[in-house]
Amino acid sequence: MELFLVISTLLLVSSVSSQDMPYEHVLAQLQACPKECRCPRSSPHVVYCDNRNLKTIPNIPPHTWYLYLQNNQIDVLSEKALRNTTQLRWLNLNHNKITDQGVEEGALKALSGLIHLQMEDNLLTTIPTPLPASLEQLRLSRNKISKIPPGVFSGMDHLALLDLQGNKLGDEAVTEQSLKGLSGLVQVNLAKNNLKIMPSGLPATTTQLYLDSNDIEKIPPEYFKDLPKMAFLRLNFNKLGNGGLPKNIFDLPSILDLQLSHNQLTEVPLFPLSLEHLHLDHNKIKSVNGTEICPVPIGTLDESANESGPRLRYLRLDGNEIKPPISWDLIICFRLLRAIVI
Ligand SMILES: *[C@@H]1O[C@H](CO)[C@@H](O)[C@H](O)[C@H]1NC(C)=O
Ligand SMILES: *[C@@H]1O[C@H](CO)[C@@H](O)[C@H](O)[C@H]1NC(C)=O
Ligand SMILES: *[C@@H]1O[C@H](CO)[C@@H](O)[C@H](O)[C@H]1NC(C)=O
Repeated sequence: MELFLVISTLLLVSSVSSQDMPYEHVLAQLQACPKECRCPRSSPHVVYCDNRNLKTIPNIPPHTWYLYLQNNQIDVLSEKALRNTTQLRWLNLNHNKITDQGVEEGALKALSGLIHLQMEDNLLTTIPTPLPASLEQLRLSRNKISKIPPGVFSGMDHLALLDLQGNKLGDEAVTEQSLKGLSGLVQVNLAKNNLKIMPSGLPATTTQLYLDSNDIEKIPPEYFKDLPKMAFLRLNFNKLGNGGLPKNIFDLPSILDLQLSHNQLTEVPLFPLSLEHLHLDHNKIKSVNGTEICPVPIGTLDESANESGPRLRYLRLDGNEIKPPISWDLIICFRLLRAIVI
């Protein structure tokens, strides 16, 4: 029986062409495949243990790079089960029952090459710690996270994406202290939390900031001063009125996409030439004056539509109190406009 297994494995090994994995590793990997999981011979670095109703993590074979454990009943992130998986790059634990206490000391730290960690839809109330410094993406949506312990991200300068949407973070939770160390952060998602003010302490590298569905009423005048790369800003479903927006608050050199749908704006805020997408639907805007919102004096625009003029391509204004027709100067100013929803 055992001999047969070895022979059949050897035969299959020859069909493994794409992976530069030594035969003995492929063999070791397939032989150590837990019975609860599936280890495809064609991609020996991948181990699928998802959707199995598992309560615990089985012992994972040593040459695993991608490990799928989502949609189970796992409540403990076991140090022992992951002890040999030092090459792990990608770990998906979405939709399980892991609590703070369930994250065993050192279970994550040992995964010193981990790049993606997904623990969405679990029962965490804080950021699991200590995290491997190699992480580039951390997805913790829809837990019950209400605090970010100071220093938890210290040394994590590879982390580019931090997704914390659908948690219970209040204003006191997101501070310079709590985010310290994230010197390479590009995208941060804090949508669907309990923020009443704009989060502080975001690193200067932040390019995408998602804050939809919070209770934010205003943006402080100097808020974007230390965020020069801001390009995608989403504040849909908040409580912003024009009183809460300083006059040139969105005059950001890199801004491309600004979403302010479902707020309480009564006027179109000013925005710079660079902006390509503007979502202002479902506010209380009564009229749009193209001359006033044009980022350059409208008289200075010539016939040619080019990239050095206003770059707005898409504008949503539906769900406001605007009556047609669209003001003609809007079309004159925004020559590149392809769609306007009203
Ligand atoms: C880890 O590898 C060692 C040596 O190959 C082996 O004895 C042990 O059972 C493995 N542990 C787990 C949890 O798989
Ligand atoms: C738009 O604003 C300009 C400049 O403030 C003003 O001269 C013009 O009358 C306004 N247009 C409309 C239709 O209100
Ligand atoms: C582009 O448009 C701007 C504003 O209309 C104009 O000043 C500039 O000369 C144009 N540049 C080119 C290369 O056509």
